[in-house]
Amino acid sequence: MTQKKKVVLAYSGGLDTSVAIKWMQEKHNMDVIALTIDLGTEKDLKPVEEKALKIGAGKSIIIDAKEVFVYYFIFPALQAGALYEKSYLLSTALGRPLIAKLLVDTAMSEGASAVAHGCTGKGNDQVRFDVAIHTLNSSLQIIAPVREWKMSRNEEIEYAQKNGIPVDASISNPYSVDENIWGRSIECGILEDPWKEPPEDVYKWTKSVNDTPSKPTYIEIGFEKGIPLSLNGKEMDGISLIQELNKIAGENGVGRIDHLENRIVGIKSREIYEAPAATVLNKAHQALEEITMTKDTLRFKDVVSNHYSDIVYNGLWFSTFHQDLVAYVLSNQRFVTGTIRVKLLKGTCSVVGRKSPLSLYNHSLATYDKGDTFEHDAATGFIKIYGLPTRIQAQIQLKALKKGETIPSIMPPRVEPTDMIEK
Ligand code: ARG
Repeated sequence: MTQKKKVVLAYSGGLDTSVAIKWMQEKHNMDVIALTIDLGTEKDLKPVEEKALKIGAGKSIIIDAKEVFVYYFIFPALQAGALYEKSYLLSTALGRPLIAKLLVDTAMSEGASAVAHGCTGKGNDQVRFDVAIHTLNSSLQIIAPVREWKMSRNEEIEYAQKNGIPVDASISNPYSVDENIWGRSIECGILEDPWKEPPEDVYKWTKSVNDTPSKPTYIEIGFEKGIPLSLNGKEMDGISLIQELNKIAGENGVGRIDHLENRIVGIKSREIYEAPAATVLNKAHQALEEITMTKDTLRFKDVVSNHYSDIVYNGLWFSTFHQDLVAYVLSNQRFVTGTIRVKLLKGTCSVVGRKSPLSLYNHSLATYDKGDTFEHDAATGFIKIYGLPTRIQAQIQLKALKKGETIPSIMPPRVEPTDMIEK
């Protein structure tokens, strides 16, 4: 008898991937290896491992990838200032390439010819998985059961019941949720109406501001070369630091994000995120860059951040362009060392203090008080030369626009809203 082909499935324990185990056995006649990857969810993964075996997986594997996730994905993204469309801290998007890598590695070590994931056909995650998997190993077959089977939710539940697949209570949950240590992504249900305020029950990590303390919580985050190393003066490993910050900031209602975002596949979609630690760290990191970087460096870092965020969002983690940007960021972060004090209060997170041994802030230059060392007299000459091109342009070009006027009219025309849209 010839051996059945093997497929490694990224298994979460939810309905989709549970049904996928049975479905791939029937439809593709394959042996299924369930691979569950721990990127820092709060739930216990032992029952997930057992559930896969009970449904019929030939093997069930759990990989704790938290540390790799934090030091190879999250902290580099923090250094890069990763923020998609000014809002999304990319928790899900950062997790996908790591899951893809572990799927490919496991397929190799288990002698599987295929890998599988539970993505639908209209999201970003299918793109991220498929591009990453085939970049790492183009000979692997990719199976995406949910994209292929065209079952409705109810048909899926029916299929599950018929095949003895446990359908748990969470099935009544109207939301689709993805969760890892860097954040929670929530979509579907009422959230699909962008006019409706998200109901409280979408949130799990952050308190409603009605229930948060009325006194501020102050925290201090110590960074070295753009990496957070301590919290309130205590050195901490990355995982604990993020977990602790998720708690503290979540308690204060910090980290709720409501984003109308542009997906890779062209759809606009309304996404809710909870990212307490990511929100605080991103803000603190940026504040430290402000005090340790020159104006030009900051301007260019912004450009790099935007490209970097697009690359991560668009599923191009394993591209050489990504490597190029990382090389820049690593160099750019050399002096981002210091401490930031943050105030958390009623859903807000404000930077209230910054210091650095490499600070470019010079008090004697900045002060309006005694001890001022700035050369005020030099300013007059500087301004004369600095304003020279604009002055010359006004004399020649602006004047030419309106003959006869010494001071040309430089106000833009008043615009009425009705001018914009043709009736
Ligand atoms: N829109 C986000 C992204 O593309 C989150 C998707 C999360 N998936 C989910 N099942 N909620 O990264």
